Amino acid sequence: MNAGNASTGEAIALRGISKTFGSVTVLKATELAVNKSEFLTLLGPSGSGKTTLLNLISGALTPSSGEILLGGRNITRMPPRDRGIGMVFQNYALMPHMTVFENVAYPLRVRRESSGSIRRKVLDALDRVGLKGFDDRKPRQLSGGQQQRVGIARCIVYSPAIIMMDEPLGALDKNLREQMQTEIKRLHRELGTTIIYVTHDQEEALNMSDRICLMKTGEIAQLGAPDDLYFRPNSRFVAEFIGESNLLKGKSAAANSVAIDGVGVVHVPSSERSLGSDVMVMVRPEKMQISGADVDAPAGHNVLHGVVEAISFVGGMTRISVKTVQGASVTAKIISGPASTRPELGSAAKLSWSPAESVVLSA
Ligand SMILES: Nc1ncnc2c1ncn2[C@@H]1O[C@H](COP(=O)(O)OP(=O)(O)O)[C@@H](O)[C@H]1O
Ligand SMILES: [Mg+2]
Repeated sequence: MNAGNASTGEAIALRGISKTFGSVTVLKATELAVNKSEFLTLLGPSGSGKTTLLNLISGALTPSSGEILLGGRNITRMPPRDRGIGMVFQNYALMPHMTVFENVAYPLRVRRESSGSIRRKVLDALDRVGLKGFDDRKPRQLSGGQQQRVGIARCIVYSPAIIMMDEPLGALDKNLREQMQTEIKRLHRELGTTIIYVTHDQEEALNMSDRICLMKTGEIAQLGAPDDLYFRPNSRFVAEFIGESNLLKGKSAAANSVAIDGVGVVHVPSSERSLGSDVMVMVRPEKMQISGADVDAPAGHNVLHGVVEAISFVGGMTRISVKTVQGASVTAKIISGPASTRPELGSAAKLSWSPAESVVLSA
């Protein structure tokens, strides 16, 4: 769900927001609008500025330039606690001496709600995160996953319109992380809250988000729906950060072709490019077809010849790496089947792909 029209449906808008520490700019002037009820993920390598961006929105940091609008209202200089933005942290940040009930009740006590209302809201929040009956425990009597559920309950208990989560599942093991991803998505659907989620894990971002904002050293590399970033990356950085990719270096030869170094001309979707410019042709491994050298490739496909140099079985898929006659390693990923359905290690192979599956990136 990609809610809303940007002019009426904006939960948050950042206008030229930047952050400089001393002489180091860690966030360049950034424009970003988050729609109401959207699940937006800030994805990027460590140090790319994700936490800085969250801290600017929450008010924990003051921007060096720009404005922050919350529902159209300028909150750039509003104190953090007046912004009504809920936070969930990777380290849970629970109060160890308080029971689960009191941890979750805390934001309501700060807001001086009546004890009846507090009791009702806390029990409802604990129920929503699957912790019914855990209210008398202390945090140390809970597993990591359960502690994070308390962190989430403490956040949703006062119904903030916006929730920000900074690598909330980073401390959990893989299976639990996947289960919690599903639960956070369910909560998002049930509550309709705007969520800004931070992770460095591309699979988590692809799985959970309406849109992904991919960050690279203090700026937005690309903002779009998960399949936009996957199928239409705008740069080599995006192509390499999200999923696996084959990158073939060459020069633009015509609107719909590229001369790959040492290979020759391959066909690509038509677009305007200056002739002779350095480009990369990106092809996802699952879009590469592989066959024996003597089998004809489908009509119109681009073709590479080589020798199978590695085969790795990765469960449902098998990854086959081919050393082309030009010396490049190109990978095809096929659905796993009996050994007879794939070329043998060391055998001559033909790789082919449809021109429509090529993405041309500037080098
Ligand atoms: N208080 C600070 N003073 C100086 N540099 C900082 C400070 N906080 C963060 N940085 C730097 O800003 C960059 C972005 O950090 P951060 O936003 O935490 O990245 P991420 O969350 O994407 O890992 C890093 O290079 C980090 O070292
Ligand atoms: Mg961070």
